[in-house]
Amino acid sequence: VKVLVLHGPNLNRLGKRETGVYGKVTLDEINERLVHKGKEWGLHVSFAQSNMEGELIDYIHKADGEFDYIIFNPGAYTHYSYALRDAIASVDVPVFEVHLSNIHAREPFRHTSVTAPVCHGQIAGFGPLSYELALAAIHGLTEGEAD
Ligand code: DQA
Repeated sequence: VKVLVLHGPNLNRLGKRETGVYGKVTLDEINERLVHKGKEWGLHVSFAQSNMEGELIDYIHKADGEFDYIIFNPGAYTHYSYALRDAIASVDVPVFEVHLSNIHAREPFRHTSVTAPVCHGQIAGFGPLSYELALAAIHGLTEGEAD
């Protein structure tokens, strides 16, 4: 089972960025933890990060046929990118939307996710654990499947 973990804009700044909201864990640390969990669960985990909408769209398109699942944190694009929403809808790969923060408890503009309706589900509010919970869901859904 192959999983692409896709990080959107500004997530490369994790650990330095608004630490009161997002915590001090860096993106590399999040990824390392997912690799570790992936090994435990027999999932192949790959990573990509981009600050550009078009590049994220390309990653999603390229994942079709390459990956079985995508764990995606679209960052602020979550709230307004119809192009990313359409990209997700255009592929056969199930996308699990994740957010570190509980977007529903923050500013009103963050309460809307235009991407979540075309995703398999959404996990928000558990910090770095949000990603791990998404991976745990994939593990639960695919247990017993080869590779
Ligand atoms: C975020 C929430 C978004 O509202 C914000 O723009 C981000 C990070 C999160 O992981 O909590 O960049 O996606």
